[in-house]
Amino acid sequence: MDADKIRSDFPLYESQNNDVIYFDNACQTMRPKQVIDAMNEYYCKFPACGGRSIHRLATQVSMKIDEAREKIASFLGCEPSNLVFTKNCTESLNIVARGYPFKKGSSVLTTDMEHNSNHVPWISSKINHKFVKTPASGIFDFDEYLKNLNRDVSIVSMVHTNNVTGTTIPAKEVIEAAHDNGSLVMLDGAQSTPHQKIDLKKLDVDMFAFSMHKMLGPSGVGVLYAKDEILKKMDPLVGGGGGVGTTDYNSVTFLPSPEKFESGLLNYSGIIGSGAAIDYLTKIGMEEIEEHERGLNTFVTSRLKDNESIQILDPVEPSLRSGIFSFNINGIDSHDIAMICDEISAIAIRSGMHCAHPFFVSRGINGCARASFYLYNTKEECAKFIDTVEYIVRTFSD
Ligand code: ALA
Repeated sequence: MDADKIRSDFPLYESQNNDVIYFDNACQTMRPKQVIDAMNEYYCKFPACGGRSIHRLATQVSMKIDEAREKIASFLGCEPSNLVFTKNCTESLNIVARGYPFKKGSSVLTTDMEHNSNHVPWISSKINHKFVKTPASGIFDFDEYLKNLNRDVSIVSMVHTNNVTGTTIPAKEVIEAAHDNGSLVMLDGAQSTPHQKIDLKKLDVDMFAFSMHKMLGPSGVGVLYAKDEILKKMDPLVGGGGGVGTTDYNSVTFLPSPEKFESGLLNYSGIIGSGAAIDYLTKIGMEEIEEHERGLNTFVTSRLKDNESIQILDPVEPSLRSGIFSFNINGIDSHDIAMICDEISAIAIRSGMHCAHPFFVSRGINGCARASFYLYNTKEECAKFIDTVEYIVRTFSD
């Protein structure tokens, strides 16, 4: 994979911010010009409403939306009719937590290190919430999972790849065990879909959620995959125009999925841009992207892991952490680390609790700094990051 060639597709590197080393990819990635062009094409050539009017502009929009849905379906190995467009992964997860008719008194089983998007919806849901405790190694404890997977668990809803540690749960085994127990499974794929090949049919997962802004796509587009029988049983989070067949003064007949869940005007340019992002990733190849990130993470880890003032959040082994490098430096607040990286080297990383407060609070950690890599990052950028972190240690650490 030629990261230098890839960079020529990203307008940031030709802007006045071209010196920025962008390592905040787990939060949001940059967009290539192919995505921006596809979005502009909507606004310039057919800036109309899809799925309603029948004039030529509207018809082009509807066709482009169908096309984007088909591209995403083929990228994930599923049928287009099982994909609902939402505004982000959080909304996708909320649709299930709020709209599925879970049995009263039943439970959701999550890990103890979920992002708030797969935590808050369950806190406010009517079912009980149980947690699989993760050991200090940071690696999912399958025996602990089985111990918690009792008959009361109606759904296992888990982060696929963790946004703080970068670890990935053994999804296939988790799903098989849950199905044997009669439980549904939903995966929060926000950090896995952008970084590894996902095959939903092979996984046999019941529901899967992710956001396009973490995988070269526009902000404001999320996706929910759900099996047919689940889409049929579930109530939409939002009702209104576009999602219904007919209404009278007292009742409503919803359209079949996915329209049932897509009431109101959609983010057409964003969805069309998402199709372009999928084309871009497909052309590069997900296996290539995964290998590239792992290479960068291995390089950074090998150079910083033996520094006694630096703690890498477990597991230290980089091959278990996707493109995520989370760390602390003795005596320095994570926000200060991020600020110094930005100030002296124009390196953009994230700091704090990363929307995963229970994870940090339960372990008595006051947040961490996180560098997260993607396909356009280079070894030279990583070398500058290593030098910067070493400088921070030398200058400010206890
Ligand atoms: N989930 C995003 C992150 O981890 C916002 O940065």
